[in-house]
Amino acid sequence: MIYQDTINKIMDTARIEEVVGDFVSLKKRGTSLIGNCPFHNEKTPSFHVSVTKGIYKCFGCGKGGDSVRFIMDHEKYSYPEALKYLAVKYNIEVEEKEESPQVVEANNARESLYVVSLFAANFFSNELWTGEQGRAIGLSYFKERGFREDIIKKFELGYSPDQWDALILSAASAGHKEEYLEKTGLAIRNDKGKVYDRFRGRVMFPIHNFTGRVIGFGGRTLKTDKNVPKYVNSPESDIYHKSNVLYGLFQAKKAIRDADNCYLVEGYADVLSVHQAGVENVVASSGTSLTIEQIRLIGRFTQNVTILYDGDAAGIKASLRGLDMILEEGLNVKVVNFPDGHDPDSYMHKVGAGAFKNYIENNRKDFILYKADTLLKEAGTDPIKRAGIIRDIVESIAKIPDDIKASVFIRECSHLLQVEERMLMTELNKMRSAKFKKGGQGQQQYQQRSSGSSQSPSPYPEGPPDNLFDDDAGPDLPGMEVAADDDLLQEHEIIRLLLAFGHELVSWDNIDNMYIGSFIMQNLSDVTFENEICQLIIQNYKEEIENGHLPVANQFIKNDNRQIADLAITLSTSPYSLSENWYNKHQIYVRDETVNLKATILGGLYHLKKKKVERLLLGLLQEIKQEPDPANQDILMSKYAYMKNVEREISKFLGSVVIK
Ligand code: CTP
Ligand code: MN
Repeated sequence: MIYQDTINKIMDTARIEEVVGDFVSLKKRGTSLIGNCPFHNEKTPSFHVSVTKGIYKCFGCGKGGDSVRFIMDHEKYSYPEALKYLAVKYNIEVEEKEESPQVVEANNARESLYVVSLFAANFFSNELWTGEQGRAIGLSYFKERGFREDIIKKFELGYSPDQWDALILSAASAGHKEEYLEKTGLAIRNDKGKVYDRFRGRVMFPIHNFTGRVIGFGGRTLKTDKNVPKYVNSPESDIYHKSNVLYGLFQAKKAIRDADNCYLVEGYADVLSVHQAGVENVVASSGTSLTIEQIRLIGRFTQNVTILYDGDAAGIKASLRGLDMILEEGLNVKVVNFPDGHDPDSYMHKVGAGAFKNYIENNRKDFILYKADTLLKEAGTDPIKRAGIIRDIVESIAKIPDDIKASVFIRECSHLLQVEERMLMTELNKMRSAKFKKGGQGQQQYQQRSSGSSQSPSPYPEGPPDNLFDDDAGPDLPGMEVAADDDLLQEHEIIRLLLAFGHELVSWDNIDNMYIGSFIMQNLSDVTFENEICQLIIQNYKEEIENGHLPVANQFIKNDNRQIADLAITLSTSPYSLSENWYNKHQIYVRDETVNLKATILGGLYHLKKKKVERLLLGLLQEIKQEPDPANQDILMSKYAYMKNVEREISKFLGSVVIK
């Protein structure tokens, strides 16, 4: 655990514009900086950075947060990893708390595995560039295959000398424990207890995790002897889990995000060649068949995957089914096929970088259509085989979680397979309902609107009738996640006012020198918030005030509860003032809310109260209709009349306070 003091130091030092500026080019606009959002594809900038608040917010995709959140989101780092990244950037020494001895030991052991792996990578690289054998055999092999020096360096390729203990000896003299060499699989202990190097006389491909640490190796033999395995690979270890590693991801991740596409190839050599051709968004699953974890790893950076196949037909057929898994994860899959049995590596070296790049960019086919095409060719005119293909294709389409996308494929496949769209649709629905019955995941559950859930009992469990607020619908906030629900809008407005003005001291009418934060809280004692997150913030605010503290906006902006932080960020960076919209709508000309802060605050409070009263009235009306006993009806009626009066009073008050 990193000490809170260290965290504070990092947070105080890190400047949002510098942290973001390393990845996004920012321009000044008004009081904030803006740029193209790095988290989604856009041409007109909607990514805002507020230097004074130390936060960013994209009004296109909704992502927002502080410096640490930015690094976590952008680099896919964990919280401590992001803190350490910032610490390195600002040259701050990270002080970590002592953990339990077991945790310390486990962390140290893992750290030692990383350290010894890095040592080995440096050793192999050194051997390649300066060792006699390495230069004569390893380096000349790479050169012969056409790999440029910059690529060999970028991927930190190396050479392991053809002897039993080259690495072991070098590691020992540098003070590394044999235990860790064994645990990473760099050294092997035989039955007689003797240790020897796993990699001998091979060119070495270090494998990095996506933060760039070396976690394992692949070693290719240079012999043509069929009895020698072509590749020897590091075994699984505490730091190397093959199923969630993609070779080349560390070198490719920026390009993947920029291109919003990830090329997927089979081998190390393919990654190097495609990268060398100037197409840097390429990774390999290297040897193992693609796993769900690997697909999700890609999904963190892009939703688009393009598979570069080698042309061998058996291989293609085998992998067609595996690709359904990618569809199931909601990613878009395209396929490029190479002619004459070429793989990406051989084709690149045959036609050269430029032609290769053109080829893969112009020969992408959508996976579903590609699959239909391939299977159709194979089936020829055999009607039974053709029927089987239809089922096979629809099965793939049924895996696509997005209905709209699926229906586009249905249409295209109906042309290709020459069957009616309706028939394919029926087939699709059958498969989907079968999947439901099997207890599969079925259709994706859409995220519930946050306004729907509530801890406090709502007077209208079924919600108000649809037409209730028709004439008074809230303003549309472009790109912001604000539900159409007017109540939510007004609850948000209160939170926004608390965050923006809570610390202002005011003296109005019969109040004297009071913080707006306290004033608002006093006036909310009779109000229950429907929205869970709003309620949490209000609750929190109230407790703090009761304990003698006046909360600051940053407490919520940097809250551990992600939903609270998100809402606080959205509300304190909104380029539109909600109340400004209200005032426009009610044709009241208070442009700058700070000019008449009293109107702004009271307006916010009493609009919310009015909404709550309106809800109450509606419920009463319903109750009156359903109440069979006339005596009870009378009681309800007088309640209604009373509340109606309250509503009128509020409206009158609003009119007076806002206009003045
Ligand atoms: N592989 C492996 N063990 C083998 C053969 C292959 O682990 N005996 C893995 C490697 O990760 C390799 C990938 O499968 O990169 C694809 O195999 P292949 O196409 O044979 O390897 P390339 O890297 O393309 O090697 P080269 O072009 O040098 O033959
Ligand atoms: Mn190859």
